[in-house]
Amino acid sequence: MTEPMTNYPESIRSKFEELFGQEALIIRSPGRINLIGEHLDYNLGFVLPAAINRAIWLGIQKRDDHGIRLHSLDYDDDYQGRVDDLSPSGKLWPDYILGVIQQIQKKIALNHGFNIVFGGDIPPGAGLSSSAALECATAFALNELFELGLERMDLVKIGQAAENEFVGVKCGIMDQFASVFGRKEHLIRLDCRNLSYVYVPFLAEEIKILLFDTRVKHSLADSAYNERREECEKGVQLIQKYLPEIKSLRDASQEMLESYVKNVDKTVYIRCTYVVSEIKRLLNGCEDLEKGDLISFGKRMFETHAGLKDLYEVSCDELDLLVNLVKDNPDVIGARMMGGGFGGCTINLVKAEAVDDLMKKVSDAYLSKTGTGMLVYEVEIEGGTGYSS
Ligand code: GLA
Repeated sequence: MTEPMTNYPESIRSKFEELFGQEALIIRSPGRINLIGEHLDYNLGFVLPAAINRAIWLGIQKRDDHGIRLHSLDYDDDYQGRVDDLSPSGKLWPDYILGVIQQIQKKIALNHGFNIVFGGDIPPGAGLSSSAALECATAFALNELFELGLERMDLVKIGQAAENEFVGVKCGIMDQFASVFGRKEHLIRLDCRNLSYVYVPFLAEEIKILLFDTRVKHSLADSAYNERREECEKGVQLIQKYLPEIKSLRDASQEMLESYVKNVDKTVYIRCTYVVSEIKRLLNGCEDLEKGDLISFGKRMFETHAGLKDLYEVSCDELDLLVNLVKDNPDVIGARMMGGGFGGCTINLVKAEAVDDLMKKVSDAYLSKTGTGMLVYEVEIEGGTGYSS
């Protein structure tokens, strides 16, 4: 159920020496969870993510020429190129790194090549942002190696732009932000409109965070993601015909949707209804946390799932099954699908003493209903991108 741990910093250090005969700088950049506030980042709402104790580790060192040599430990695969000649590699993993180099080159010319070895324990395709972690590890590493003087927020934006422009996924800013700005035992309440943020303590000894991984990723995941973005933009345009000052769904109210969207486009109306209600839910959820009312917070997580399933329509049978399996279990405070949707994980807040029992129950039920096994990750909230300790 839970896989064996590799000592990534150590494996990367020794692979680097073997391949390049150099001692590497080793950078760690984590994956993320998001407690509530899903599909709100690109609608300029709030999100409540945290960095986790699963990460990408990346070793890097300068070369004397303009060459780039990349090695993926987990795929046991290589890529060779040049810093001054960047084009998509034809396979996915090098593109996250190349996209970051391209963004950095737009700001500051890199006159040297470098070697990279990387690997990590963020399961790819599970919705825990392994790609954002790789982008942020690369941006941080190049900033350190070449002393570029970039701020943390620049690294976040470089990572997001790499994914938008080079990889072609129109993601919002949440994943890269959480990876770079994560803080141990804290959630981050990020306002995606002005990028201001506050750290919200989240250390509940008696509550554990469990991720149940469906191990599916349906093929419409990326196209549906971009489609949802367009539907939200259309909602804003419909409102703007009457209220030009409305710039995003963050500014919109349910009344506006009733007046200007409902009778024009039903689908756009229900998508926007989810977004407007989720923005409210997140703010109420943050108040719950301030009061220490996890029970109320957990209820809102279930409501978010219902909204993502019925209104935003980004869930899938496997995710719904995992939420249904825990919905009436008093040991589960809250649960919902997490991330973009159409597969990946559910996030569950679970009473500590019930963890082992729940893992077994849910895994058995999932296997018997779907015929395939799921995975479980118990995660802890860790710090953001930095040198590996
Ligand atoms: C993906 C994207 C994020 C965000 C979430 C949904 O993880 O990369 O930017 O939009 O989906 O909340």
